[in-house]
Amino acid sequence: MGRVSGKKAIITGGAQGLGEATAKMLAREGAKVAITDINGEGAEKIAAEINAELGDGTAFAWQHDVTDGERWKTVVQEAHDAMGGLNILVNNAGIGSLGSVEDEDYAMFQKVMTVDVDSIFLGCKYAIPLMRDHGLGSIINISSIAGIIASGNYVSYNTAKAAVRHLSKSIALHCAKTGGQIRSNSVHPVFINTPILDRTKEMFGEAEALAKLGRQIPLGKVGEPDDIAYAVLYLASDESKLVTGIELKVDGGISAM
Ligand SMILES: NC(=O)c1ccc[n+]([C@@H]2O[C@H](COP(=O)([O-])OP(=O)(O)OC[C@H]3O[C@@H](n4cnc5c(N)ncnc54)[C@H](O)[C@@H]3O)[C@@H](O)[C@H]2O)c1
Repeated sequence: MGRVSGKKAIITGGAQGLGEATAKMLAREGAKVAITDINGEGAEKIAAEINAELGDGTAFAWQHDVTDGERWKTVVQEAHDAMGGLNILVNNAGIGSLGSVEDEDYAMFQKVMTVDVDSIFLGCKYAIPLMRDHGLGSIINISSIAGIIASGNYVSYNTAKAAVRHLSKSIALHCAKTGGQIRSNSVHPVFINTPILDRTKEMFGEAEALAKLGRQIPLGKVGEPDDIAYAVLYLASDESKLVTGIELKVDGGISAM
């Protein structure tokens, strides 16, 4: 308990999946959390669950499409004011798309880039100036193992998540040079059992889908949301105060092959 005690965090895409698990983990470890999502009702539901468990004023919610730069400005300022500061930004919201360079629609390619990459540029652009006033800060960008290992039918997702990896490093070096208080790292999950896998489960049935995906991973199974939330917790806490510009792979060994 208390690994991020007193810290204030924004988590995008926090209405479900990895964002929900991360928001709950950070709150249980002592942080105040601002949960944002394009699904505003979902964000409010998770904030209410956290407040019921940990007390009112622990969690706050905003409806926010992370591709909207103007809304980013408002949300970071309002979250900062509601929580009494800002130390942690978890850029988690993201979408995937299946398709090769020949099959993928150009509009979809651009959408994935906007949601997965532009959102992080915007979030960091507007959050960093507010984070600077509050001591040690940490930016955690959720990439994917698909940002390191490519496959023929993930052209948009591979491209976007690889960009997140390098964007995180550029931000890390900029922040190191301008005061050194704020760190920036990327996290690279392998398949994790969240609603993002719903389509695969519909195609093969849940048990077969999880088994099929698990067989691709040396440790033999799909991950749980808390496997990623624990990685974010470490990077968010001051335990990792010398860690910046890294890519933390939580991948069951797949990238070791
Ligand atoms: N689950 C996995 O297997 C896995 C593996 C590697 C990386 N990731 C990455 O982790 C992150 C979270 O994934 P997840 O599995 O929890 O997915 P998910 O689909 O369960 O949840 C994503 C959340 O992001 C929100 N969102 C989508 N578009 C948005 C937008 N434009 N603005 C604001 N919110 C938006 C959704 O409403 C949803 O609540 C994503 O960036 C994803 O690419 C997931």
